[in-house]
Amino acid sequence: MDHFDYVDGTMRVEQVPMAVIADAVGTPVYVYSTATLERHVGVFREGLAALDNPLIAFAVKANPNAAVLATLAKLGLGADVVSGGELLRAVAAGITADRIVFSGVGKTAEEMQLALEHGIFQFNLESEPEAEMLSQVALSMGKRAPVAYRINPDVDAGTHAKISTGKSENKFGIPYDRALESYAAARDLPGLDVQGVAVHIGSQLTDLAPLEAAFTKVGALITALREAGHDIRTADLGGGLGVPYDPSQPLPPSPADYGAMVCRVTQGWPVRLMFEPGRVIVGNAGALLSRVVRVKQGAKAPFVIVDAAMNDLLRPSLYDAWHDIRAVAPSGKQAAANVVGPVCETGDTFAMGRDMDVVEAGDLVAFMTAGAYGATMAGTYNSRPLTPEVLVSGDRWAVVRARPPIETLIEGDSIPDWLAD
Ligand code: LLP
Repeated sequence: MDHFDYVDGTMRVEQVPMAVIADAVGTPVYVYSTATLERHVGVFREGLAALDNPLIAFAVKANPNAAVLATLAKLGLGADVVSGGELLRAVAAGITADRIVFSGVGKTAEEMQLALEHGIFQFNLESEPEAEMLSQVALSMGKRAPVAYRINPDVDAGTHAKISTGKSENKFGIPYDRALESYAAARDLPGLDVQGVAVHIGSQLTDLAPLEAAFTKVGALITALREAGHDIRTADLGGGLGVPYDPSQPLPPSPADYGAMVCRVTQGWPVRLMFEPGRVIVGNAGALLSRVVRVKQGAKAPFVIVDAAMNDLLRPSLYDAWHDIRAVAPSGKQAAANVVGPVCETGDTFAMGRDMDVVEAGDLVAFMTAGAYGATMAGTYNSRPLTPEVLVSGDRWAVVRARPPIETLIEGDSIPDWLAD
């Protein structure tokens, strides 16, 4: 559920008309709803209410905007980070280090050092060479790094291939069957304090069965590790819960369903549970607001050319992702249309032959469920400045990332001496 509703024939986010934001800030612009963020944190937390003190670490990659992170920090969330940059953004937004977990296959020595300086809660290691490097870095600082190994359970998440992470051929984690050896080797590394097990099998999961299969494997491994003398105190069950994008599709499992499954599977585990939700917290809390530049005739359906493009919202062109496209002030008429951006690539297509509100040049449209993996994946292709972002709370709204002037692109480059005159 979100807080983008129609009042008197026009879309509002909470109490603010989308058109007011478009007129003031220009388009394209991402718009986020605080009430929706709060609601999703509440629902996710409620689903896990039966657990003792779970750590809910928001996957910063889904939406690293400072205002979004500060909202989540106020609600008590931690952060799952995958780079030094995400770590610093999370800390700057008020997320304390004791709630930060560092994931990712390619952490550098500098990033490890930074995270150790901050005293984060846990590193999720993804290979033995990484464990050796972290041990050395920690020792050189006179510290011991709290670690879990992310295991690769060889479970098919049943989601898009580009966002599946739990099959043995994927780059993530250590092989499940070799885990006992990897843990034994880690125990001998003096710079590490081995405290947990982690897993994350993919994103936008619409079926709980693969998650349950992966968690069951984690449970069996915890038992085996404790029998082998490892003091396993944490289990990080990752993120991955899907959100509804297409209203014509069956609803994905709710956080309540997910929580019930987690509680059932993990009953009796002698560990603190950790979670890394991204999309389910921010997905429906954001929309990309765009204006129709013009409508041109097409062979089968008209092309609706909007001022947002693949550089602003990459998901449709990268994963064939489906985003609901709604007129901000619907005329009441519906027809098939192809919705495209201005970038010079056929892949800059948001929808083909989509039955949707009929729109004309100058009308506003909203790409729904764009709060996760939207602005964070934006780029400047075709020399289009990064998309600005707005946060709404009740009847208040603020620009939380301004649209950079085109000069930032021009002045960001430099011309070497030999070309200067
Ligand atoms: N934990 C780890 C280690 C992850 O790699 C991810 C996402 C998450 C947690 C959060 O997963 P979520 O709860 O958001 O599903 N750009 C793609 C999604 C990539 C997800 C990458 N990892 C998209 O737009 O669909």
